[in-house]
Amino acid sequence: MAERTAFPGLDLTGSVALVTGGGSGIGRETALTFADLGADVAIFDISEESARDTADRIREAGRSALSCPGDAASEADVERAFQRTQSTLGDVDIVVACAGVLGDYQPIAETSVEHFDRVMAVNVRGSFLAIREAVPQMRRRGRGAIVLLSSLDGLQAEPGMASYCTSKGALLNLARAAALDLAREGITVNAVCPSVTITPLLEGRLATLPDGDAVLASYASKHPLGRVLTPRDIAATIAFIVSPLASGITGAAVPVDAGKGAAWDNYATPPWLAT
Ligand SMILES: NC(=O)c1ccc[n+]([C@@H]2O[C@H](COP(=O)([O-])OP(=O)(O)OC[C@H]3O[C@@H](n4cnc5c(N)ncnc54)[C@H](O)[C@@H]3O)[C@@H](O)[C@H]2O)c1
Repeated sequence: MAERTAFPGLDLTGSVALVTGGGSGIGRETALTFADLGADVAIFDISEESARDTADRIREAGRSALSCPGDAASEADVERAFQRTQSTLGDVDIVVACAGVLGDYQPIAETSVEHFDRVMAVNVRGSFLAIREAVPQMRRRGRGAIVLLSSLDGLQAEPGMASYCTSKGALLNLARAAALDLAREGITVNAVCPSVTITPLLEGRLATLPDGDAVLASYASKHPLGRVLTPRDIAATIAFIVSPLASGITGAAVPVDAGKGAAWDNYATPPWLAT
């Protein structure tokens, strides 16, 4: 029998990562976590200032970083970001497509074509473009790990969110299809499906409500763990998935949902158990 050795800890030393949407929320926390684990990281974001801010923090942590402003839906911008990353940091072996937009709440019959197209362009076309640009660099490295940010809204749906839910559902099959195409080349592609996560995106939405704090508390109570998620919860899962420890996982939809997907109904302790 082969001798057993202990697993190494999470270590991304020597990796070059590109994180789209790395200027805020889940993308920023993921980029900082990668740097903590030894990777050099390129930050691609439509907000030049926030991309630069994340890159500065990574340099302060002692790793190399690059900020690339651009629109995830633009073929030219994504191509340019991957070229700059390659010439500055080297070929990427990790890509996380976090850039995403929620769009306004709009019932399906009142959803404009422009709204639908923009949400699909950023969330779905943006992820497709990131995969396509990553592959030649990952082939040269002989390995690669790609993570797409789907959502619990990709596995289930919520009212008034047809454009977003459609885009997040599409990402699950984009991850599966890409995983199959790349499986024999040592490149994994997975989707992560967070439930409610406290980020500027969510805070912006809650701020539009008169009772935002109460809504957040009610979200928390509907998750079996009794809380919503933090960017760190999602970044930790992504870090595991892109690490060599998870090299056997591809084409998966990985929920990070505080148990929400396990519940038959909006979770609350039934009155007969609450003593
Ligand atoms: N926060 C949640 O509850 C939650 C839950 C499930 C999934 N997600 C997904 O996680 C991802 C990150 O969300 P977040 O909550 O961290 O959001 P966020 O708004 O805090 O961060 C998103 C980042 O993407 C950037 N961005 C937006 N449009 C872009 C574009 N066209 N090109 C380049 N960059 C662009 C923004 O500038 C921002 O820096 C999104 O795909 C979102 O759908 C979030």
